[in-house]
Amino acid sequence: KKVIFSGMQATGIITLGNYIGALKNWVSLHEAYDCLFSVVDLHSITIRHDPAQLRKRSRDLLTLYIAAGLDPEKNIIYYQSHVPAHAELAWILNCYTYMGELNRMTQYKEKSEKNEDNINAGLFTYPVLMAADILLYQTDVVPVGNDQRQHLELARDIATRFNNIYGEVFKIPEPYFGEVGARIMSLQEPTKKMSKSDENVNGFISVLDEPDVIMKKVKRAVTDSDREIRYSEDKPGVKNLIDIYSVMTGTDIENVVNHFEGKGYGDLKKEVGESIVEGLRPLQTRFKALSADKAYIDEVIKSNGDRASYLAHKTLRKVKKKVGLPQ
Ligand code: TYM
Repeated sequence: KKVIFSGMQATGIITLGNYIGALKNWVSLHEAYDCLFSVVDLHSITIRHDPAQLRKRSRDLLTLYIAAGLDPEKNIIYYQSHVPAHAELAWILNCYTYMGELNRMTQYKEKSEKNEDNINAGLFTYPVLMAADILLYQTDVVPVGNDQRQHLELARDIATRFNNIYGEVFKIPEPYFGEVGARIMSLQEPTKKMSKSDENVNGFISVLDEPDVIMKKVKRAVTDSDREIRYSEDKPGVKNLIDIYSVMTGTDIENVVNHFEGKGYGDLKKEVGESIVEGLRPLQTRFKALSADKAYIDEVIKSNGDRASYLAHKTLRKVKKKVGLPQ
């Protein structure tokens, strides 16, 4: 079986963008592959954070993975920080990554503009840790949203460079972007991606938002002064709502557009809101039940972390040997 690896940061309750761009695709792929889904907590400390909150959010995120339908018996669902091999491989790969490459990363540029008082080395080498995450497990496919495209390219470049020096050590991973919805936009500024760190909470929907909150946020979504429901780049707000509806109801874009023909923005928003509420309902229900089952989640964290460690060490051992570190 081919291997899938992916991860999310625990910097807040994940958004509808994370769900559509990543989590939902993970669920649709998870039976056909050997999958590892990580809560990438080491990545989360590259920006200032509250320790207690990080602990809680990490656990909530891991619980959400399971609530969304991933199976900790078949998949490996674990905390990145519980497998020290990630940090070890990241260090080694740092020595095979050029400053120039990292300087070109657009997410680094964006994040350092936003966090001017804390442009730390971890933020800069963030993509190398991400490459280590992926390469440790001989990953074939990495399902992510479009914003991770450049990071994936870098992971491939680092792996290729390493292999050119030492022989076939790493599998070269392929990205997987869902058909629609690899980029869900902010409801308030539809030319920007939906992000959980948006100061305006109306810009994003959290997957744990209550139905009335979801309906309200969609109702307030920015569209345009026109009245026509058309799927077009020059109507980013409407296009985004159509994308969301398409994914949440499993209808292709053409049929969505036909469905809304002759209707107004009010109808569009109402139905989009309802599609989100319905689409997220099973996840929300399971999340509540699972969160209450402390012993079960603890057991998953322990057993899945051990399984990840075992696999990670196979690659790490090989890498250390290749570069000449004493066995
Ligand atoms: P993160 O935590 O920012 O986002 C998690 C996943 O959600 C996708 N995503 C979106 N998709 C569509 N529309 C949006 N508005 C949107 N916002 C986020 C992201 O593309 C991502 O797939 N660096 C990664 C985490 C990571 C990782 C990895 C991913 C660390 N190591 C190894 C894959 C493999 C990140 O910050 O994702």
